[in-house]
Amino acid sequence: MKPLTQAEKEAIQYTAYRTVAALAKNTSIPYCREIIQRIVDENKAELVETKSYSSLPYLIELRYKTSEHIIREGGYQQVIELGAGLTPHALNLKQTVTNYIEVDLEENSRLKRRIVQELEPSLTVHYVAGDVFDSHTWSRLNSLLKPGMPVAIFAEGFLIYSSQEQRRFLGENIGAILAEHDGLFFVEDAVRFHPELQGIPKIKQFTIALTNRSKNTNYSEPITQEALTQEWQDMGFIVKRIEPEKKLETAYSAEDEQILDTLKHWLLFAR
Ligand SMILES: C[S@@+](CC[C@H](N)C(=O)[O-])C[C@H]1O[C@@H](n2cnc3c(N)ncnc32)[C@H](O)[C@@H]1O
Repeated sequence: MKPLTQAEKEAIQYTAYRTVAALAKNTSIPYCREIIQRIVDENKAELVETKSYSSLPYLIELRYKTSEHIIREGGYQQVIELGAGLTPHALNLKQTVTNYIEVDLEENSRLKRRIVQELEPSLTVHYVAGDVFDSHTWSRLNSLLKPGMPVAIFAEGFLIYSSQEQRRFLGENIGAILAEHDGLFFVEDAVRFHPELQGIPKIKQFTIALTNRSKNTNYSEPITQEALTQEWQDMGFIVKRIEPEKKLETAYSAEDEQILDTLKHWLLFAR
């Protein structure tokens, strides 16, 4: 598996700032505002500007709340969050999860560790700084898992940038963990997996903006939800699709509601 180049890493890691800024602006999810305030205080205000034309903020709230709902409802005490960025999941799940492991590229991982330690000095989180597409990262993740506790693995705003080769690599590593420990892999549905939505001008604009910002060309390569389901099944997962929760704090229009109606998340289990 080809690891990310330095230029790819630099571009993609900045995609983490605006998502938490959107949660801070539109929702009451604890800690988002404090995290964004710290970024602003460090003179990085331009990284957390949210412009409605280039984001779909209700989808960010949707995936955030769905992940936490699945983890709480399943009582998962052990979690791996891939491409965690600045999300405050570890802080907000501290009553449920005793072994929280998150991975992101070096710069984001270091920044996150510093901010969370300032906000909750007593919270223990394992921060793995590394490329998710590097097998050394998976050796480290495996070494942090505790036996006898099922694992919830999830990635928000991360798989949308993946190629088929990268998903296969993830599928192999995640499948091995679920076979050994039990648990599930939650995959958010997103407009990337609905090429039929690209006819909507706002969605087309969003795709172009995100491709430019992340400098990642996979994002604009269409893949259908059916093809993605088939990929997971071919990798040996049992696939369940679930309807998204549509009660959100973030405002959305009637057109957005139609987009929401097309989405169904994926829950993957080992056979
Ligand atoms: C769009 S952001 C999403 C962040 C967060 N999950 C959220 O929803 O706000 C994508 C995150 O994935 C991280 N990322 C992208 N490619 C990665 C890789 N190969 N290895 C580790 N982290 C990666 C980026 O640094 C960034 O923090």
